[in-house]
Amino acid sequence: MDRIRIVGGHKLKGTIPISGAKNAALPLMIASLLTRDTLTLKNVPNLADVNLLARILRNHGVDHMVDGKRGGPSHQGETYHFTARDIVDTTAPYEMVSRMRASFWVIGPLLARMGQAKVSLPGGCAIGTRPVDLHLQGLKALGADIVIDAGYVVAKAPKGGLIGNRVTFPKVSVGATHNVLMAAALAKGETVIENAAREPEVGDVADCLVKMGAKIEGIGSSTLRVQGRTQLEGAVHTVVADRIETGTFAMAVAATGGDVVLEGARADLLENALQVLEKCGVTVTRQENGIRIQRNGAGLEPVSIETQPFPGFPTDLQAQMMALMAKAKGTSVIRETIFENRFMHVQELARLGCDIQLNGDTASIRGVTMLKGAPVMATDLRASVSLVIAGLTAEGETTVNRVYHLDRGFERLEEKLSRCGAEIERLASG
Ligand code: UD1
Repeated sequence: MDRIRIVGGHKLKGTIPISGAKNAALPLMIASLLTRDTLTLKNVPNLADVNLLARILRNHGVDHMVDGKRGGPSHQGETYHFTARDIVDTTAPYEMVSRMRASFWVIGPLLARMGQAKVSLPGGCAIGTRPVDLHLQGLKALGADIVIDAGYVVAKAPKGGLIGNRVTFPKVSVGATHNVLMAAALAKGETVIENAAREPEVGDVADCLVKMGAKIEGIGSSTLRVQGRTQLEGAVHTVVADRIETGTFAMAVAATGGDVVLEGARADLLENALQVLEKCGVTVTRQENGIRIQRNGAGLEPVSIETQPFPGFPTDLQAQMMALMAKAKGTSVIRETIFENRFMHVQELARLGCDIQLNGDTASIRGVTMLKGAPVMATDLRASVSLVIAGLTAEGETTVNRVYHLDRGFERLEEKLSRCGAEIERLASG
């Protein structure tokens, strides 16, 4: 298994191009199931999760083609063409869904288009129990008959197809919103989704569905009003910039010090996190071509934050924020309200010398003057990148093991960082 080796202590300087968002690319790819025509997606990041989902979709009968050659210098992402002319299989097997939670989201589109779907209960990052009750509640409201059988969700639509309805989620769920939104686009009549997730990736999928012919009002708000169509058409859509990658690099620069432009980043997608960085003493400049992050030698101020659904502080930046606070000038408090088990990075950060006390859903981080490099283990996608950030600020060498977690969600991480002066390299497994 590949490892990443980092020698800390280098300031970051230069430009980092921001990729298309993984969390938008995945549901957009799934949306291709809704039409016989070709859905063209531009700015798709080259990630393990994207490649895995393309394989899963192929299993259902979705052909995909990639334009040109990968690996150009621009980091502009790839253009993919997905065509689901005929759905050949409405079952998503355990071996596939267990490797990526988001692939569970095929259930809504398959059910809407084919009237039936059998999808394994999901796996994915081990950051909590992550049930799917909200997904099922939403699909049932559209008339689906659902049973759980031997680890599979078996869903059937009424004879004439799914029927629009009011779906009121008791809790905000990104995945359940995607699922019901996509299903509603092919349901009969109007669906109103209340307490919908407002994450920018949901808005990106909704924008794409509109290009495909769906009628959706309230995009960006917590009430989505969808007029279903009997069929949707092909479209061309560009994947929105990755706000989590943006925030991660912003925190890396804040941690090491330096001056970096995050090219193509959109400040409006992560205002909350940017304002937290400003409170810490980081200079954030919202520019036309992206976001400039600067920190001189001055110490970081400690902060208190709580993760929240968008537009609050994202849970997907919580681990990175913790790594940043490790050397702040006092004690910071981070409360995780979205996932109950999302502190697995704490014990690995402690190996580098971080002083973190956990109490239920709250972590107190007492800033220390120095971190020291050590071998550490990645436990999930966002946790692994927090170890990279800590390694960049630690004295000496850090090796991050199990980097396949990183490859799921960060495109050319080590290349982007080393171009800005970080001493970081991938050690391929022998
Ligand atoms: C998505 C993101 C993930 C991010 C998360 C929260 C993708 C591919 N993944 O995950 O990176 O961390 O949003 O912003 O976009 N829940 C239920 N029942 C359900 C569904 C969810 O109780 O049926 C709970 C979850 O356990 C969690 C909370 O709701 O506590 C939020 O989960 P959700 O928004 O659904 O996360 P995902 O869509 O899985």
